[in-house]
Parts: sequence; C-alpha cells; structure tokens
Amino acid sequence: MLDKTAITSVPVSSLVSGRWSPRVYDSSHSFSKEELTAFIEAARWAPSSNNFQPWKFVVAPRGTEAHSKVIPTLTGFNQSWAPAASALVVVLASTTRPDGTAFDRGTAMFNAGLAASNVVLEAESRGFKSHYMGGFEKQQLLDEFGIKGFEPAIILAIGLPGDVSKASPELQTREAAQRERKSLSEIILGEF
Ligand SMILES: Cc1cc2nc3c(=O)[nH]c(=O)nc-3n(C[C@H](O)[C@H](O)[C@H](O)COP(=O)(O)O)c2cc1C
Repeated sequence: MLDKTAITSVPVSSLVSGRWSPRVYDSSHSFSKEELTAFIEAARWAPSSNNFQPWKFVVAPRGTEAHSKVIPTLTGFNQSWAPAASALVVVLASTTRPDGTAFDRGTAMFNAGLAASNVVLEAESRGFKSHYMGGFEKQQLLDEFGIKGFEPAIILAIGLPGDVSKASPELQTREAAQRERKSLSEIILGEF
C-alpha cells in the first residue's frame, strides 16, 4: 500500500496523518455486514446541532442494486475509479428541522460533514481507505432512490487500495502525486 502519511510540524493522530484519498481500489475486496454497520454506527454517534441528527445514509456495496444506482450519478473522473471501491456511502442532509421548519442549509451540511468524517475515521481505524466525492449529480441521485426532504452532501468511496502498477497512466500519476497543504502560518489568524 502507498504510504502518503502527512508530514506534520508536531505529531498528530495517525488516523489524521495516515488518512489520504486513493483513486485505485482493490475490486476483489468486499466488506462484511459488520464492517458496513460499523461505518454507519460511527456516523450515528457524530455530534449535531441540538442533537437533531439531520442525516440519512445510502450504503451501496459493490455489486448491489444500490451501487448500480449510485454509479451513473458520478461525474467526470469519478466515473473511472470509484466503481472499484468496495462500497459507496451516500451521506444526505435533512432540509428540515424535526418541527418541519426549513433547516439552515449551511448547518445541515456541516452536520452531515461531521457524520461523513466519522465514517472515514472508522474506516481508517480498521485499515481501510476512503475518498470523499462531491462530484455527482445530486438531483439524479435523489430521483434514483425516490428520496425527499434530504439533500445529498457527499458520496464516500471506501475500500482497500489496489495495485497502482496496474492502473491507467493518468491514475498512476495522480496516485504518485505529493499531498500538499497550506502552511500553518497561512491558516492561523493572529498568534497563540
Ligand atoms: C467535500 C469534498 C469533495 C470532494 N470531491 C471530490 C471528487 O468529486 N472527486 C475526487 O477525486 N476527489 C474529491 N475530493 C477529495 C479531495 O480532492 C482530496 O481530499 C484533497 O485533494 C486532499 O487529498 P487527501 O484527501 O489525499 O489529503 C473531495 C473532498 C472533499 C472534502
């Protein structure tokens, strides 16, 4: 497996430094029911505003009907690599509060993002890799599943990294690329 561990100025959790987003997955690997359940269990325990838990999930292991419905919604380059991942997880944000009034979209998406992050960290802790995807047709996905009252926030591709040497030249280049980040001084306002 490629090691793309982040180079940090001080040590941080290996769940953070070791996480990165592969685009080459092992298409022979499948998740157990327990593993898939653990991903959503982790999401369930994410914090949320007023503990509204304003989210729902579509779990789409490769080879299932749900998977075949999610794949066509992926746009651009995502179409070429994401189908090989062992599962796709769609994270949806509620557009209304429990009392039926409209939910501030930013808050709804923030909550959904925290749930998605819990899925990614649970997968990472179990030795799997994840890749966030915002590149998909949101309305098409809602129509495919007949979902109302929720807006898709993100799709996660989760699985085991595959053999990069067997990937297309374009994918090989992307996988080999250095991971880059702004410096701390660029993102910290003021001093501490
Ligand atoms: C909200 C969000 C949307 C993203 N959408 C896509 C996407 O559609 N396709 C893709 O290949 N990567 C996507 N990414 C992955 C980012 O490109 C990736 O996280 C970033 O380049 C940093 O790389 P790293 O995750 O390996 O550290 C997305 C990430 C986030 C957080």
